[in-house]
Amino acid sequence: MSRHEIVVDLGSRSYPIIVGRGVSRELSDHLPPTARRAVIITQDGLPSVELSSIPSTTIRIGRGEEHKNLATIESLSREFASFGLTRNDVIIGVGGGMVTDVAGFAASAWHRGTAVVHVATSLLAMVDAAIGGKTGVNIPEGKNLVGAFWQPSAVLCDLDHLESLPESETRCGLGEIAKYHFISGQDLLGFDLDARVAACARIKADIVAQDEREGGRRALLNYGHTLAHAIETVGRHSVAHGEAVAMGLVFAAHLAHRLGRIDGDRVALHENVVGGTYGLATRPTEVFAIDDLMSVIARDKKATSGLTFVLDSERGLEVVNDIEPSTVAETLRGYLIA
Ligand SMILES: NC(=O)c1ccc[n+]([C@@H]2O[C@H](COP(=O)([O-])OP(=O)(O)OC[C@H]3O[C@@H](n4cnc5c(N)ncnc54)[C@H](O)[C@@H]3O)[C@@H](O)[C@H]2O)c1
Repeated sequence: MSRHEIVVDLGSRSYPIIVGRGVSRELSDHLPPTARRAVIITQDGLPSVELSSIPSTTIRIGRGEEHKNLATIESLSREFASFGLTRNDVIIGVGGGMVTDVAGFAASAWHRGTAVVHVATSLLAMVDAAIGGKTGVNIPEGKNLVGAFWQPSAVLCDLDHLESLPESETRCGLGEIAKYHFISGQDLLGFDLDARVAACARIKADIVAQDEREGGRRALLNYGHTLAHAIETVGRHSVAHGEAVAMGLVFAAHLAHRLGRIDGDRVALHENVVGGTYGLATRPTEVFAIDDLMSVIARDKKATSGLTFVLDSERGLEVVNDIEPSTVAETLRGYLIA
């Protein structure tokens, strides 16, 4: 298994993503030279990292989306203050996407911007969440509604850390990898684990480098996410993020078909790739009311005009605005009972 280094090319804010076994031991090499102390933000039960080059303290936050909130940011900030963390120091997020989103947002706000390094420990964080600088927390009205763009100084993806990852969390990562399958057209499961994680990181890095603030191409990373957010919100997170994304990919194919954008074979490909190749559920088992899903879809933050979805076409994925809500609801009805 090899070590891969991918650069997110953002000029003076460029940073490396390092993928391989044991790469978290390189942590000290990726801290900003100004850092005299570090705060490590993590959760109970996660792989630990060694940091001997500078003094550090470790803060453990709660597990689960219900802890990804402003109360956690406030309590972290108060701990930063009592530790004496300055703007020249560094925050290190060690965990899955929940930790890297929280650590990144806390870093963006601490003294109006303090360096952050992510050690991604879940498959989903390695291929997606820890890369690209979108940070944030949830409020009762919706997921990730309060946040900031704040790029890390480095992202370390130590594949040894995946050994303790529960099977259900691996499935979540596979949901996002299936998304990259459709964005890139590559059969990513054909690669070894190190090459697969590196290939996904490279796809995300390239998109972020082209469109850091989601003015255009970066929105394609939301493929499958419109219905996914609705399933997560209505189901109160009974379906995990990556698994909901997998379902959202299949639904998006059905919607694209109804709008005449793709043919039936392309829909079947989505069903087969998600359900067969990646072995993920293509539909929720829980019964969801269509009206409940529709009301979340209608207030999706990507919806600037009418209903907005990322949809497939002969030209590849595109952001499609102004979709009739009745078309989405009818497709949803057919998709859920199929
Ligand atoms: N910022 C972005 O661009 C972006 C992109 C996608 C998802 N996200 C966010 O990421 C979050 C989902 O990330 P996630 O799926 O990693 O969830 P998570 O961070 O909640 O991790 C899932 C569970 O796995 C545990 N875990 C993580 N690594 C482990 C390991 N190596 N061994 C044992 N247990 C481990 C965690 O403690 C947690 O209980 C969501 O909040 C989502 O909104 C952000």
